[in-house]
Amino acid sequence: MLSKIEHIALAVSDLEAAIAHYTQIWGLSLEHRETVEDQGVEEAMFRLGDSYLQLLAPLSPESPVGRFIRRSGEGLHHIAYEVDDIEQALKDLKQSGLSLIDEQPRTGSRGTKIAFVHPKGNLGLLVELVQKS
Ligand code: CO
Repeated sequence: MLSKIEHIALAVSDLEAAIAHYTQIWGLSLEHRETVEDQGVEEAMFRLGDSYLQLLAPLSPESPVGRFIRRSGEGLHHIAYEVDDIEQALKDLKQSGLSLIDEQPRTGSRGTKIAFVHPKGNLGLLVELVQKS
């Protein structure tokens, strides 16, 4: 069902500072930047081989990522797995007893189809499924 890790997402409070950190210290180059209003985030993507490192900064303190940073601080937020058929993957995961945040896929950044799986029941890890169009 899973073909690869599409991205690893890190919650950061200051996107500009975090971009500078990953550019200057880790030598990555910024490939994509996008505001995703319905997730309440601005994101920055760095390519790392076949995958991405994704930085997520909250658009407001009350957004999910804003609350996450207040609760847990900056750091690992979720892992995104690429799938070929996101509808089927959601059906299978639900049948296996996982709790889905998104029962239906929605539009993510870069025109992808995405859905989140709740960390409860998944050993504490928030997972995003990504299907490229
Ligand atoms: Co993501």
